[in-house]
Amino acid sequence: MTTTISDTLRLGTRSHMGGDLRTSHLGQEVTLFGWVDSRRDHGGVIFVDLRDRTGLVQIVFEPETSPEAHQAADRLRGEYAVGIRGFVRARGEGLANPRLATGEIEVAVRQLEVYNAARPLPFPLDDDGVDENLRLTHRYLELRGKRLTGALAARHRIMQQMRRYLDDRGFLEIETPILTKSTPEGARDYLVPSRVHPGEFFALPQSPQIFKQILMVGGQDRYFQIARCFRDEDLRADRQPEFTQLDCELSWTSQDQILELFEGLMAHLIHASVGANVSAPIPRMSWLDAMNRYGSDKPDTRFGLELCDLTDATRGCSFQVFSGAPVVKGLRVPGGAQRISRSQIDALTDFVRKFGAKGLAYVKVGDPSGPVAKNLAEAELATIVAAAAAEPGDLLFFGAGEWGQVVDVLGRLRLKLGQDLGLIPQGLWNLLWVVDFPMFEYDATEGRLYAMHHPFTSARPSDLPVLARWAAHLDEGGTLTPEAIAELTAVKANAYDMVLNGVELGGGSIRIHQAEVQQQAFRLLGLTPDEIKTKFGFMIEAFTYGTPPHGGIAFGLDRLCMLLSGVPAIRDVIAFPKTQQARDLMAAAPGGVDDKQLKELHVRTVVEG
Ligand code: AMO
Ligand code: AMP
Repeated sequence: MTTTISDTLRLGTRSHMGGDLRTSHLGQEVTLFGWVDSRRDHGGVIFVDLRDRTGLVQIVFEPETSPEAHQAADRLRGEYAVGIRGFVRARGEGLANPRLATGEIEVAVRQLEVYNAARPLPFPLDDDGVDENLRLTHRYLELRGKRLTGALAARHRIMQQMRRYLDDRGFLEIETPILTKSTPEGARDYLVPSRVHPGEFFALPQSPQIFKQILMVGGQDRYFQIARCFRDEDLRADRQPEFTQLDCELSWTSQDQILELFEGLMAHLIHASVGANVSAPIPRMSWLDAMNRYGSDKPDTRFGLELCDLTDATRGCSFQVFSGAPVVKGLRVPGGAQRISRSQIDALTDFVRKFGAKGLAYVKVGDPSGPVAKNLAEAELATIVAAAAAEPGDLLFFGAGEWGQVVDVLGRLRLKLGQDLGLIPQGLWNLLWVVDFPMFEYDATEGRLYAMHHPFTSARPSDLPVLARWAAHLDEGGTLTPEAIAELTAVKANAYDMVLNGVELGGGSIRIHQAEVQQQAFRLLGLTPDEIKTKFGFMIEAFTYGTPPHGGIAFGLDRLCMLLSGVPAIRDVIAFPKTQQARDLMAAAPGGVDDKQLKELHVRTVVEG
């Protein structure tokens, strides 16, 4: 529907964005385009809030200014797409709206053009209470709202700042393929069947890892890319199947140089986005320290509530749960005896059980009547309380069991208590490097080692003989003996993660750059020589032609934008995100395809169950 009033308001003649108008524009004639946000009819005078990407501006239709426009305005409804021409004037005495940036002015309309009508909306814009699936189905409407418009603009600015920072430091922006071969980052691959090569598949990249390293072999020296990555894994608030990394790699570098370059970048982005000053260098914490003190490899250091070790203090004590466990750790909640009720403790016990804890022993310091305190001799209890530096009135929680399980459970409990008790201060930007990661993790059920970062991460030079020795052992037909597992899981990697307020923002490493060492790493991760050849032969070969030492890092762009925009999920900073069930509700993807297409792709589907 196009209603033409007087002269046609030509498209392409916008003079201003509506949200930018201020008192400095008083008296000017302006041409604006946008949507009807709301319409109020005040007996003869019609007020409309006109919205575009920059915000709202009040436009006024009065018979005295233009009888035609005034008459046509009567038919305007929410979300009609319109253009207007009029002049900027001050709002009447006492009528300014301090909540709007344009609140001191209004535009008296001389000419109106309606380009399109809109059906009544399925939900009001900017209403977070509306079912998210409904909003995602009509994402284009949600995108018109203030929240997403602001988040996307902020994301754009962050990307531009990144580009400028890296360009200034000699990084080239280079694209790498989307249709490629599997890149191992620990998730499942999205596969694309090839029509021209029956039975063969491309994999979408889990990251540009291999290509960026080969760019270093190719002499490109410093690379970055704002790269789309694809991972078929369980989704959470900070994970999407398709997400974006700021991906970087550089040659002739050291871990210190990389940390310095990228803490500089993050400090710059945080300052530019939220005005906060992050002082560099940012703290570094070893992985072991992070696990022991915070029960997490991405500690939220905005609040205390650190774990303490009570293994020695409980050795040989009369409470079997403690004395029979290899590790006992404590979590002291100052003043918790009063603040945390019995029913809350029961709820926390259910919470930790979900993560595999057998229970949640606790002691109210100074109260000998509790279930655990009763099981301990007075002197034993005193030793534990002293080791935890606890005081009367504190609540002391215990985790007893294997080290990995105990720190994980208490780490989760710490975060939950931090949230439940309101201990996490807002407005802090706690950046942290976690360093000195182990190279491997051992999976006892599968009886194999996994790379804690990825298989291209280098080990400390002093650990190289350990890798070489056990790789040779496997080559000679040996297996991963307990001694091998003990030695290999003690190997430290040249890897680092950046954490912001308890969220893993990015991670990287100094890479292996020697073909032989790379082959050893693959062998230790359980690949056969044949598998190494078919999956990574090209990379190993590339490494034999004078590969420079190199290293790099990748940041989760969505996560960074989420934190800087203060929103709870990365869906809120992605224009077209997928649901937790990995669906695009608007486009209805994934969806079925017709038989002809499947045939061309040499694919037959069998849906089970
Ligand atoms: P990594 O796998 O740690 O490293 O990924 C780097 C960063 O990407 C973000 N991220 C995600 N964001 C949203 N959804 C996901 N599913 C998701 N998975 C990861 C995280 C993470 O810190 N190639 C290496 C980097 C390197 O070694 O240079 C890599 O991909 O913020
Ligand atoms: P039980 O002797 O099993 O009845 O447990 C006594 C107390 O210790 C209860 O509060 C349990 O929740 C707790 N508990 C049991 N196992 C563990 C464990 N592995 N770590 C921490 N607390 C535990």
